[in-house]
Amino acid sequence: MDSLEGLRTKLIVEGGHRLEGVVAPPGAKNAALPIMAAAILSESEIVLHRVPRITDVDVMAAILESLGARVREQPGGTLVIDASSISSFRAPYALVSKLNASFDVTGALLGRFNQAEVPRPGGCVLGPRAVEMHLRGFELLGASVDLEHGSVIVRAPALRGTRIELSKPSVGATKNIMLAAVRARGTTTIEHAAREPEVVDLADFLNAMGARVSGQGTESIAIEGVSKLHACEYTIIPDRLVAGTYLIAGAITRGDVTVTGLDPAMLAALSEQLLASGCDVATEGVSVRVRSAKQWQAVDVTTAPYPGFPTDLQPPLVAYLALADGESRVEETIFDARFVYVSELARMGADITVSGRTARIAGVAKLKDAVVEAPDIRAGGALVLAALAAEGTSEVGGLEFIDRGYEFFEERLASLGATVVRASGVAPVMPTADIGNTVKLPRIVTPFRAQSS
Ligand code: UD1
Repeated sequence: MDSLEGLRTKLIVEGGHRLEGVVAPPGAKNAALPIMAAAILSESEIVLHRVPRITDVDVMAAILESLGARVREQPGGTLVIDASSISSFRAPYALVSKLNASFDVTGALLGRFNQAEVPRPGGCVLGPRAVEMHLRGFELLGASVDLEHGSVIVRAPALRGTRIELSKPSVGATKNIMLAAVRARGTTTIEHAAREPEVVDLADFLNAMGARVSGQGTESIAIEGVSKLHACEYTIIPDRLVAGTYLIAGAITRGDVTVTGLDPAMLAALSEQLLASGCDVATEGVSVRVRSAKQWQAVDVTTAPYPGFPTDLQPPLVAYLALADGESRVEETIFDARFVYVSELARMGADITVSGRTARIAGVAKLKDAVVEAPDIRAGGALVLAALAAEGTSEVGGLEFIDRGYEFFEERLASLGATVVRASGVAPVMPTADIGNTVKLPRIVTPFRAQSS
C-alpha cells in the first residue's frame, strides 16, 4: 500500500505563505469546450486564441479528431480546427465518457449533418447529469430522439426554428440548443436561457462565424438560422472561475491578490461575499483586487445560476469560510452532491456539517496539514487553498481533476508566493528554509478516473 501511495501524483503544498501579486487567468474552460464543439459547424478553418492548456481541452480535441476534424495546436494557447473533413457523426464512448461537456457536440453535429449519435452522459461525483432539456429542445427543432445502446441518436429531415422554453436556465441545454438552431430554417427563441458569460461567449463566437444570435446574456436568446457558417479567428474569454479561485487563495492566506484581464462584473457575486466577510475589494478597469481581512467573518451564501453565486466557486469559498469567525451557512442549489469534498476539509480540521443541500461551517482558528484527495475539479481547488492556509505541509491528490480545469495551477500559485510542487513517486522532503518559487518537479498528467463539471 505504501508503495502505491508513493506512486500517486500529487501537489505538495507548504502552508502558511501569504499570497500577493497579480495573476491573469487563462481562457475559460466552460467557453472553450462548447466553442471547440461549435467549430464542427464550419467547413472552413477556425482559429481560437486563449484556449486553456487543460486536459478537458485535450479530450475535446481528441473527440473532434475522432470525427474526422484536424486540430492543430500553435504556441501560446492557439488551436486551429479544420472541420471540413468531418466524416462521422458518431462520437466515441471512450472519449465522451471522460467529459460531460462533450455532449455539446450533439447540437453541433445535428446543426451540420442533421444527425448525431453521442453516448448519453452518465453523471459524475456531483450527481447525475440530466439532459432531458437538451433532448426536448432538439425534438422541438424537428428532430427525433432515440436511445440505442446507451447512445442518444438524433435525426431530423430538416431543422425548423421554434420557441423553446427551458424549465430552468441550464447552461448545457442553452448551449446545445443554440448549436443546433444556428443552422435551422427560421428563428428559434430560447426562453429561460442560461445567462452565464460562457454562454454569451459561445453566442459571440457563433456570430463571428456568421450566425445571427441575439439576446445572449438575457433570459431570452433569439437565433435566426443561416445556411452556412464561415471561417473565423476568435479569442476566448478569461476564466472567471479560475480567477475567483485565485482571489480566494489571496483571501485565505491573509494576502493581497489582483486578477486582471477580465470584466470584474463576472466576479461580482464573489466580490460581494468577500466584501461582506471583511475583505477589501477594489475593482478597476479589467482588474479585481482583494486584500484580506486579518480575521474574516462568517457569511451566508446560496449558489444560483448567473449572475448569482457560482456553484463552481462554492468549494473554494467553503474552504475560506472554514477559517472565518462565526458560523456560515452555504446552500447548494445547482448540483445534488456538491459537498462530497467536505470530509476531506474536515480531515484538515474544518468543522462542517452537511444536511441535504446545506452546509453549516463553524469557523475554526486554524487548519492543519493532511493528505487529502480531490474528488472533482473545484473541490481540488478548494483543498489546495485550504492547504495553503493550513499549518504544515499537505499533500493533495486527485490531480487528474485539478488538471482538467486549472491551467498551470502550481506555477501561477508559485508566482503569487505559494510553495507548491508537483510530485510523483516518493514525496520530496520540503526544505525547512524558504524554497522560493523556483523548485518545480516534472509535470505528469495522470489518467482520467471520473467526470465532473
Ligand atoms: C455547466 C458548467 C459547470 C457549472 C454548471 C452550472 C460546463 C462545461 N460546465 O455545467 O461548470 O457548474 O454549468 O453553472 O460548462 N439539468 C437537468 N436537466 C437538463 C440539464 C440540466 O436537470 O436537461 C440539471 C443538471 O443535472 C444540474 C443543473 O441542472 O443539476 C445544472 O445543469 P447545467 O446548468 O446544464 O450545467 P452543465 O452545463 O452541466
